[in-house]
Amino acid sequence: MIREPFGTTPEGTAVERFTLASASGVTINVLSYGGVIQSVFAPDRAGTLADVTLGYDSLDGYLRDKSYLGALVGRYANRIRAGRFSLDGRGYTLATNAGGNHLHGGNRGFNKAVWTTEPFADGENIGLRLDHVSPDGDEGYPGKVTARVTYTLTPDGEIVIDFLATADAPTPVNLTQHSYFNLAGTGVGDILGHTLEIAASRFTPVDAQLIPTGELRPVQGTPFDFTTPERVGARINDDDEQLRLAGGYDHNFVVDHNALSELVLAARLTDPLSGRGLDVHTTEPGMQCYSGNFLDGTVAGKGGVPLTYRSGLALETQHFPNSPNEPAFPSTILRPGAEHRSRTVYHFVVRPA
Ligand code: GLA
Repeated sequence: MIREPFGTTPEGTAVERFTLASASGVTINVLSYGGVIQSVFAPDRAGTLADVTLGYDSLDGYLRDKSYLGALVGRYANRIRAGRFSLDGRGYTLATNAGGNHLHGGNRGFNKAVWTTEPFADGENIGLRLDHVSPDGDEGYPGKVTARVTYTLTPDGEIVIDFLATADAPTPVNLTQHSYFNLAGTGVGDILGHTLEIAASRFTPVDAQLIPTGELRPVQGTPFDFTTPERVGARINDDDEQLRLAGGYDHNFVVDHNALSELVLAARLTDPLSGRGLDVHTTEPGMQCYSGNFLDGTVAGKGGVPLTYRSGLALETQHFPNSPNEPAFPSTILRPGAEHRSRTVYHFVVRPA
């Protein structure tokens, strides 16, 4: 494991970068800033490595970032309507940072924090523990939340992500990892030719503010049916109300068979040309599939290459957006004495031609 300095925040906090390598060839870089996965180098059919995640070369990029590239997201992944909810009979108002709504934890979410880090080795696995304390009142949330995220890299090319959180007062908690993948390699075109399979027979349609309406809608017969592998771009420009509202895919899928919080397959992504594949397993009931519709080429990513429209795909395992206002959705309320635990595994594989 390599541990090296990665600059200093404007507040004067030193940031570090960690390099973790595995026998499979998969090598990752993780930052203490935002718990960012800066890069994932994964082999293709010929064994050639490419960096398959979107990101920036320097801390400056992450300080300016508004797209959550590679970051840990909290206290609440995705949107909470008008930044308002009530809990145990009391109303709360959160920071609003997306068209009057609360998005991804607010103006200074967990993605903007410098996390405390502790590298570890565990048999053939190596990893990094990251800790962050979100104080009472943080971005409007009640109670102090103590969060721990553990990245474990296995010899087989899996990144196992374990989320753990406790709170000293009841509060919503919904944590995710916001990597954008491009299995052809970052900077190599868009992700429309990737094939995608999502183990979800339902999704949560949104309104014009990209917030779920509360309905769980069958994907069958819609451009949201990825129950069998389909190219991301095959239907993305169809004349479909949901695609129009979001400008592409930016929707939460209801992961099948996940009522019991078991680790199940949520998605399979493949770049057919290189053979690089990614399997996503999760204990979460939902996954936001976001096709990078807000990337517009105005910001430069790694190597100075513009982060262009749909050049990365995010598969954000999560509880459903706006759950604090949707009693029928699985609860996201964490209470004192309880633990929020969830696991997501990104498994980088090579698929046959
Ligand atoms: C999530 C949201 C998107 C967008 C991105 C970050 O995927 O659903 O609407 O905000 O994060 O740019």
